Amino acid sequence: MKKVISAVALAVSAFASTSALAANEVNVYSYRQVYLIEPMLKEFEKDTGIKVNTIFADKGLVDRVKQEGELSPADVLLTVDIARVMEIVKAGLAQKVESKTLEKNIPAQFRDSNGDWFGLTKRARVIYSSKDRVGKLPAGFDYLDLAKPEYKGKVCVRSGKNSYNVSLFAAMIEHYGEEKTKSFLEGLKANLAQKPQGGDRDQIKAIKEGICDYALGNSYYYGKMLDDEKQRANAEGAVINFPDGQFGTHVNISAVAVAKHSPNRANAVKLIEYLSGDKAQKLYAELNHEYPVKETAKASEMVRGWGSFSADAIKLEDIAKNYEKALKLVDEVKFDDVK
Ligand SMILES: [Fe+2]
Repeated sequence: MKKVISAVALAVSAFASTSALAANEVNVYSYRQVYLIEPMLKEFEKDTGIKVNTIFADKGLVDRVKQEGELSPADVLLTVDIARVMEIVKAGLAQKVESKTLEKNIPAQFRDSNGDWFGLTKRARVIYSSKDRVGKLPAGFDYLDLAKPEYKGKVCVRSGKNSYNVSLFAAMIEHYGEEKTKSFLEGLKANLAQKPQGGDRDQIKAIKEGICDYALGNSYYYGKMLDDEKQRANAEGAVINFPDGQFGTHVNISAVAVAKHSPNRANAVKLIEYLSGDKAQKLYAELNHEYPVKETAKASEMVRGWGSFSADAIKLEDIAKNYEKALKLVDEVKFDDVK
């Protein structure tokens, strides 16, 4: 009990000390690294005069909000994918928002039909191939192809339990059923060049290093690496390919929810509406190389240069409902258990 109280006191005082008199504020808890969202938050502050306080936590964010309970200062919860925003909703930590602006800015596919969560940006889960050893993959190449015996020892992927992968597998369950998804996972595991490890960027790097010829990863990492002098050479070893099988390319979102006990609810809604608006969507696109959710906002020039692709049209809610099943399959095939 003591531990809970001190955690709450700490969080409340952390905000109180930075904003002793300011009532016009909004508190953001973020799974996303703050540097990725800071430019948008700064613009919001400038345009609205509402001060934004941020706390970044890549783990334990849900537990923290739970522990803080009704005293939680959290207004806005930002996550990096559909799985984690669902975790927040299932734990009863979000509240419903009704907003014409959000309905207009965000296509129904990328928000909850109850208004519990909203997608802010899209990311494609793509297949990277070695520029020198493979080149661009032929049209129609699909995730399923990576499980074919001819690619034995040639594929790299991060942990099967990572939420980006689990979301993809959950989408595959929706399209192909559990049995076919399980044999895909067995085939993919059999083709791995090394034990699943690292993040998406590490898979692109592994291609450069000759460890593997094919890898799974999110689209924006490629853009971020090409923008970064130190990582550019690694990215340049790979070509980006949009899987194009039965359901096209799997798309995930970064998402947002208003916290159940949000003390600054009106400002929380204002912030989310702002992030779905033209100015913030453009910044997301330009700085992070994500795809904007707002249909009239354009992807960055670099991202547009990767070409168009056919995105899975499935509702993200339907992916989220298969999440536990997908995780179970990953366990059953002992996906990460590679020597
Ligand atoms: Fe990411």
